[in-house]
Amino acid sequence: MQQGQTVSVPSASAAIDRTSALSILARCDELAAHSTLPGGLIKRVYLSNEHRAVNALAAQWMIEAGMRTWQDAAGNQCGRLEGRTPGLPALLLGSHLDTVPSAGRYDGILGVLIGIAAVDRIHASGTELPFALEVVAFGDEEGTRFGRALLGSRALAGTFDRDWLDLSDADGISLSDAYRAFGLDPENLGDAARGSDDLIGYLEAHIEQGPYLEEADQALGIVSSIAGARRFAITVTGKAGHSGTPFDRRHDALAGASEIVTLIERTARDAGLIATVGHLDVFPNAVNVIPGRVELSLDLRAEFDTERDAVFERLSTIMTEICHSRGLTLDIRQTHNAPAVACSPGLREAIAVGIAATGQKDAQLLLSRAGHDGMAVGDLTEIAMLFIRCRGGVSHHPDEHVTAADVASATDAFESAVLSLAGATL
Ligand code: GLV
Ligand code: MN
Ligand code: MN
Repeated sequence: MQQGQTVSVPSASAAIDRTSALSILARCDELAAHSTLPGGLIKRVYLSNEHRAVNALAAQWMIEAGMRTWQDAAGNQCGRLEGRTPGLPALLLGSHLDTVPSAGRYDGILGVLIGIAAVDRIHASGTELPFALEVVAFGDEEGTRFGRALLGSRALAGTFDRDWLDLSDADGISLSDAYRAFGLDPENLGDAARGSDDLIGYLEAHIEQGPYLEEADQALGIVSSIAGARRFAITVTGKAGHSGTPFDRRHDALAGASEIVTLIERTARDAGLIATVGHLDVFPNAVNVIPGRVELSLDLRAEFDTERDAVFERLSTIMTEICHSRGLTLDIRQTHNAPAVACSPGLREAIAVGIAATGQKDAQLLLSRAGHDGMAVGDLTEIAMLFIRCRGGVSHHPDEHVTAADVASATDAFESAVLSLAGATL
């Protein structure tokens, strides 16, 4: 571990200014500028130059907040504030700094910055906790670059599968080579793994990515559990040919894939869970050629893994039938499997206490349909999450929006949740 610099202890008022909602939102804007897309659009993927740049900014803010910093063996940016005595087990606070393509500026990012702000306030107030505080800015939650999500948090949880090192990005760069180009040795990835004895739990603040808080006119909510997600790469293969070919001689991969897409939507909707086909590549993709091959993605989520898996089995049978009836071949490869994770009652209670401290009367218990780093960290230690209202429940889109008032409440609630865990009076 690389030791961070030490800085002089900031005054409480400087910390309050740095941890105000407007400062946090300004930091979100600063991070948003580190993007590979032009025109103000945001895309920032794992192990990229932009990842390096946002880690450096997060490290600087962690240092200002009183933390010792290091980048772990998987490229996660970490910071630690010791508790009453050095070396105590840590409460982790975290989220991610990577994004989907054409992202908003708050998904993941806001959680990291609220974590840093909470530590900053506690450090500036001189409160000594009976545990250490660590903030982790995970490098990959979205899986945008290598098609496999939670790479950063899986490395921290010690569940990183070394077979993933052979995954490659759209330019054919393997994950292994990407680690080397980032200055990390994939042989040392195991060093990113933390021991459960060194941790007391994990808290994550995140925009809700749903409409329920907004509908209830509430700023904050408590996550009950995170839906389990499975993702698949599906290839439908037919035969390319001239667009003058009569219908009864065709094996049109796109016509078959289209049937599959609507079947997925109908089946998932009827079963009361959610499924998305978000990626589709058509080959050869020409106006006068019958599509010979289509590659599509499937993302399937449910509160209960057994329900989700049963729906997948049904989908897989019907997809096979559709392809068989059209003379197409079907290949389904699973690219991601994260079981549903329940938040721990004790940590949930701390979040509830934190929300109550902001003056919000009721707090809803919400299922997270979106995936989070907590799913991976849940293999290692207990987790809980604070949800923050976002406009229209929109995320994974440039229109993502949170109000300064809600960010202020979330930061207060998060800080209070930490203090309540420490048994401190507010
Ligand atoms: C991440 O945001 C996911 O839910 O896929
Ligand atoms: Mn996301
Ligand atoms: Mn996220």
